[in-house]
Amino acid sequence: MSVSADPVKLMKQEVGKAAANLVKSGSIVGLGTGSTTAYTIQFLGDRLKSGELKDIVGVPTSFQSEVLAKQYGVPLTTLDAIDHIDIAIDGADEVDPHKNLIKGGGAAHTREKVVDYLAKEFIVVVDSGKLVDRLGSSFAVPVEVIPMAITPVINAIKKLGGQPELRMGVKKAGPVITDQGNMVVDVTFENIDDPVTLEKTLNNIPGVLENGIFVNCVSQVLIGEVIDGKPSVRQM
Ligand code: A5P
Repeated sequence: MSVSADPVKLMKQEVGKAAANLVKSGSIVGLGTGSTTAYTIQFLGDRLKSGELKDIVGVPTSFQSEVLAKQYGVPLTTLDAIDHIDIAIDGADEVDPHKNLIKGGGAAHTREKVVDYLAKEFIVVVDSGKLVDRLGSSFAVPVEVIPMAITPVINAIKKLGGQPELRMGVKKAGPVITDQGNMVVDVTFENIDDPVTLEKTLNNIPGVLENGIFVNCVSQVLIGEVIDGKPSVRQM
């Protein structure tokens, strides 16, 4: 892999690689979505190719991770064929000091939550720019909504004090459609004081499939940094 001079890319590469190195032979691995875990999947493929890592199977959290796993030679399985996940490695859009997360920047948070919550060990990989004092500081909460319920869900979110915005596609006219065929509403809240309650409240709105607040589920956060031009990784 070519090493990038872009510091954010460099942090993502380094932390993605560090997480891939935590995977042991024989493991069932949750494969996260996003630009950071793309490096993890690539490094897992490298380790398999070199023979240093053996007999792993991946559970993808999106079409993206499925495609990457096939590209880099990581064998795949499904949740129907296994009874546990040893380790899941996934990115995040925000991480607070309690290791609570906002995820869903890639509209994959529903499958990610299923896979990440099932894992015995859930490793989060982020660059240092993702650390916040309080969730919602820099990133809206993604909410996946079934299409026929989009208007009542948007109204209900407004009543809760959120500012919802339907996520629109890039290089695609109209809204983003998730891997499940649903839409995503990005909700800005002035303050998220109680992420545990907000996660439940949002999921209780009829028509909401899942939201991107992840609470009390993370085993370890690995943070990629660049110090004096050199990439490094630290644990939170
Ligand atoms: C996908 O829906 C997200 O939850 C990603 O895991 C998150 O957006 C992190 O992505 P990057 O690694 O690209 O920053």
